[in-house]
Amino acid sequence: MSWNPDTYLAFASERTRPAADLLARVALDKPQWIADLGCGPGNSTALLAGCWPSATVEGVDSSPEMIARARESGVHADWQVHDIAAWNPDRSYDLVFSNATYQWLPDHRALLPRLMRHVAKGGVFAFQVPNNQNAPSHAAMRETAADGPWAAKLKNVRGVFVETPSAYYDILAPHASARAGSIDIWTTDYLHVLEGEDAVFRWVSGTGLRPYLDALAPDERDAFTAQYKARLNAAYPRRADGRTLLPFARLFAIARV
Ligand SMILES: C[S@@+](CC[C@H](N)C(=O)[O-])C[C@H]1O[C@@H](n2cnc3c(N)ncnc32)[C@H](O)[C@@H]1O
Repeated sequence: MSWNPDTYLAFASERTRPAADLLARVALDKPQWIADLGCGPGNSTALLAGCWPSATVEGVDSSPEMIARARESGVHADWQVHDIAAWNPDRSYDLVFSNATYQWLPDHRALLPRLMRHVAKGGVFAFQVPNNQNAPSHAAMRETAADGPWAAKLKNVRGVFVETPSAYYDILAPHASARAGSIDIWTTDYLHVLEGEDAVFRWVSGTGLRPYLDALAPDERDAFTAQYKARLNAAYPRRADGRTLLPFARLFAIARV
């Protein structure tokens, strides 16, 4: 799947907010080694490096475009183009952090325990994933995909992988410290206030829509986009002041090891 840092960063403030909210619940004094998995253009990594300037921070992402942008960000970190599915460093970390990324990787029951093995004793594993698969934005994406000449082509476009909060408890707890309070899981509903035309379309263009657009030829892409925008604009009408409200549910999980 291709990533475009400019499209993604068009909503940098809204996309970074959950990383800040996750980080606010990470109770670590002086972590020395930190990994930001799926660091994207470095916006989440910037928070980590800012919070603990003396730590060694590694930003890991499979997209060369995202890592190139992260390198230009001026954030002091060690940037690595790497697939999280194959991430197997030979050291452990005080914090393994990830904002808005694990939903792209399958089989969290196997993935998360494997990643947690890289957290040092007393360290923290923290992540956030979107919890909006049934939101109108995503339902309209699936409807548009199923309802056009491209249906066969888009039939196998991969969805995202997100479990329920209690499933995450069951996945994390066996690998976390047995002490009370070692697991912290919560959900938050944001209400993003977006400016300009086709705001929700521009939002999803930076993330969830990409696998669909990547699978289409340019002329199909235009027709798909027109149909999808019509559905989105009906589901997310502009307010009297011209802005668009995007409710967005997110799921947060922290495990102390
Ligand atoms: C939505 S962005 C999140 C960026 C940043 N962490 C933030 O807080 O906004 C998701 C990132 O995950 C990366 N990604 C997706 N699948 C990945 C994988 N298997 N391995 C490494 N990175 C991956 C993408 O390249 C993208 O940069």
